[in-house]
Amino acid sequence: MRLVLLGAPGSGKGTQASRLREHLQVPHVSTGDLLRAAVKAGTPLGLQAKAVMESGALVSDEIVLGMLEERLTAGDTGNGFILDGYPRNLVQANALDALLRKLGQPVDIAVQLDVDAELLVERIAGRAQVEGRADDTPEAVRNRLKIYNEATAPVVDFYRTTGRLACVNGVGSVDEVFQRILETLAPTPEVG
Ligand code: AP5
Repeated sequence: MRLVLLGAPGSGKGTQASRLREHLQVPHVSTGDLLRAAVKAGTPLGLQAKAVMESGALVSDEIVLGMLEERLTAGDTGNGFILDGYPRNLVQANALDALLRKLGQPVDIAVQLDVDAELLVERIAGRAQVEGRADDTPEAVRNRLKIYNEATAPVVDFYRTTGRLACVNGVGSVDEVFQRILETLAPTPEVG
């Protein structure tokens, strides 16, 4: 199963990806986590990405695609993967399709977690108090949500028009949302 998780900041992509990883037994590939690891390790890529991430803006398409290609060719994604945080604009969506075509591993389904803006802000504010993520400041969150609406939302249509989109209500308990995702992945029973 090759699954792309779409959704605004705070919609629960990371939370649900961890559950899906256990359930599907495939790696969770998060570009946000890969970038945060690079920042923490102080690699040249991390040094370039740090200020951009803290402002809530997107890291350059070229850097993220290079990082993703390296991750998807690491040898453990033969049975699939859950991709979280990529693609974030139409350039990345097309680049992902091209990369996966090259690897012979096309996306099976893109699942969009739908959560209204007020709840997103509330969830991120809750996480900020617990984890103190550098881009969970009110200003960076405003910027992240704006960028999501402008650049990332069209990616939902990209998957819809290519017949690979499932929309899931992301409001409810973590368990409830997880069950809804599983229902979209289950094959439809044959009639008759
Ligand atoms: P990234 O790490 O991808 O962050 P994001 O998309 O902003 O998403 P979040 O991690 O904030 O939210 P989430 O949807 O994963 O929700 P979560 O499960 O954590 O990206 C960070 C930055 O890296 C970007 O801004 C950019 O700079 C850079 N970047 C990454 N990818 C890039 C790319 N492709 N191109 C360019 N730049 C890139 O949940 C949020 C909170 O809600 C948690 O506290 C959680 O416990 C809680 N929660 C989750 N589900 C529920 C629920 N059902 N009920 C109650 N609480 C819940």
